[in-house]
Parts: sequence; C-alpha cells; structure tokens
Amino acid sequence: MASLSYLKRPISETPQFQLISADQPPIPSKFSTIHPLRRTSFQFSQSRVSGISPRRSHVVKASSIESTRVYDIPLLSASEAIERLRRNKESYKSTQRYLAMYSSVFGGITTDEAAMVIPMDDHMVHRGHGVFDTAAIVNGCLYELDQHLDRFLSSASKARINLPFDKETTKTILLKTVSASNCKNGSLRYWISSGPGDFQLSPTGCHQSALYAVVIQDQSPPNYKGIKVITSSIPIKPPQFAIMKSVNYLPNVLSKMEAEENGGYAAIWLDEEGFVAEGPNMNVAFVTKENELLMPSFDKILSGCTAKRVLELAGDLVKEGKVRGVKVKDVTVEEGKGAEEMMLIGSGVLVRPVLQWDDQVIGNGKEGVVTESLRKLILEDMKSGPSTVRTIVPY
Ligand SMILES: Cc1ncc(COP(=O)(O)O)c(C=O)c1O
Repeated sequence: MASLSYLKRPISETPQFQLISADQPPIPSKFSTIHPLRRTSFQFSQSRVSGISPRRSHVVKASSIESTRVYDIPLLSASEAIERLRRNKESYKSTQRYLAMYSSVFGGITTDEAAMVIPMDDHMVHRGHGVFDTAAIVNGCLYELDQHLDRFLSSASKARINLPFDKETTKTILLKTVSASNCKNGSLRYWISSGPGDFQLSPTGCHQSALYAVVIQDQSPPNYKGIKVITSSIPIKPPQFAIMKSVNYLPNVLSKMEAEENGGYAAIWLDEEGFVAEGPNMNVAFVTKENELLMPSFDKILSGCTAKRVLELAGDLVKEGKVRGVKVKDVTVEEGKGAEEMMLIGSGVLVRPVLQWDDQVIGNGKEGVVTESLRKLILEDMKSGPSTVRTIVPY
C-alpha cells in the first residue's frame, strides 16, 4: 500500500485538495513528466489538515484552477502519516469525541484518536463483510449490553463470520475498553469483521476475524421534539439482510438522506407486502384509536433491543390504564397513518414522537401521553433499571 500512483484527475472531483503553488500559478508543462514522488514546486495538501505548512505561501483555490492538473503527493513515513491523521482529526469540529478503541488486530486498546484505524484490506472495508452493534453508557453502566451482544453474535453467525472470541471474552473486552476510556455517559460501538487478508471477494484469504470497539462521547444534547417522517422510496432490504445488523447500510443512508431532503427526520420502510416495517435505524410503534400500543412484528426487520424493552415496560402502562393492551402484528399504512400516536424507537432516538407522516398529521399533531410515558420509562430504566439491563463498568 506504500506506492503512490501518478494522479491525473479533474480538480472538480477532488474538492478536499487545495493546490499550494508558487507565486506564478500556472503549472509548467514539464510538470506532467516529473516523477510523482519527487518533490516539486507545486504540492497538493489536504485542505482540512491544519498546521501543515505549505512550502510556498500562495494558496490557489481549487475552483480557480483549470480543470485538469497533474500533481504530486508526498510519500509519507508511518509516523508522518499518523501525524497527519492526528492533525486532520484536530482540524474539524465534531460533537463526538472518540475516547478509546480496541482492535484485535493490534491486540489492545488505544486512547489516541489518530491510531483508531482499521486495515484497508479488512473484508469489512472493501466488501462490507462485517456486523456491528451498540450500547449506551449511562452513569457508568452499559445499557442492555447482553441483549445487544446476543444480537451482535447472531448477526455475525448470519453473516457467516467466525467469532474471534466467545461471548464472555467479547463482553470483557468491551467492558475493559469502556473502562480505559473513563467515559461515564456516551456510547459504545463494536464490529466483528471477517478480518484483514487480501482484496478478494471470498473471505478465504482473511486469516483471522477481527473485533473492533470504539467509545464515543457525544456532546450534543438529547432531542425529543416531535418530527415528520416520510415513506421511503428506497427499497427495503430483503428479510434475510434486514434481520441482521451488517455494515451494509447504504439503503439506510440513502433513505435517511431522502427524508432530510424532504424536511423529514426519517423515512419509513414498507415491507414487500406493503406493511409498515421500520425506519433506517429505528423501529416504529403506534397507539391506535382503541388505545392499544401497536408494533410491527420483527420477522422481516431488525429486532430492536429498545423496542423489545419498550414492549416489556409498556406492561406498566397497561396496569395504570394508560393503554388498553400491547399488540405486535402486521400493521397497514392505513392503521399507521390513522393512529392517535406514532413514535420512533431505537438506541439513538430512544422514544421520539412522530407528528406527521407524509401529508398526514398524526392524531392531534402533538406528542401523546403514551409516547411521553414510554420515553420516561426507558430513561428511568437506563438510569436505575434491573441488573438484567445494566452492566456496571469496572473503572
Ligand atoms: C434498521 C434498524 N432498525 C431498528 C433499529 C433499532 O434497534 P436498537 O433499538 O437495538 O437500537 C436499528 C438500530 O440501529 C436499526 O439500524
């Protein structure tokens, strides 16, 4: 991977690069014959890499340069590359900080963000042969870790990836990673991949499956405001793929983008028979006119850990008489759009009210009591639920 090819590409296709040129902007014609690795008087550098001093002071905006140029890129040593990774990370603002990463490839935990990388030849990177899951870190405990871990390992088995470690070892590694991060409130994300090996389609050249985990601290405040959803025009994944949490999230990403472009928060998928399925990273639920909590069945969609916990906690609302009952079944679009309440449920959104679906206002257009009560129950469960849903991190 060390060799650099001689790049010849339209500037318009490489917006992340700026030309750092000499005082006379035009590039000399001999430039096109200069060896790619020889330093020249012109150099491109990543614009987001701060602190890399251009060898010449004049910076020409990419847009002002004629469309095709030949340029060279420096050949970096490993330490120079790491240093640039560090500066690159420092140069952009994000609400998220990565506090620790475990990688079975380097067999340890790092707290240096610049080192939080995975090999380019990992089958998960170039073929999408990997699975992932999450768990929230709340007041020094991991919420629903066992439930997420079970789904994680089951996704790995569905993706035919040999487990790098057994469940208990995986759990210990995850807890040690959170402990090393010292994060008390945040989230943990973890992946099992077929592992590095080569760039072939078949995983037979991947010598060892890999486990990666990252602890993330998010500074953005929680947002439970009511939102609009649309019906996704991006096709839903076939059930075989929808029921596992693989890294193949392109349909999910495109459907999220479609929602955002149409003033929505998420796009809702319908299944092949037209029943309500799920959102791109959340489940959906409704409160019917008969005051029943209604959720689409999980056989063709991802079995959401949060949604399943909501179904358990909803028993309290039944006892209190806030809902008449709880049903998991096929839900028609008519039932969904005609519901009194609609909500999105997942680790990311927790329980968030949907006030409009396409052109249809849901209920009275305000958050309903059941949605609000379920969110309170989940938030309470995260802070002080039983040991079956809260695993204490040994800091
Ligand atoms: C497609 C999809 N459905 C549902 C969910 C909700 O699952 P959970 O509550 O376990 O986060 C997710 C979570 O990421 C998801 O990606």
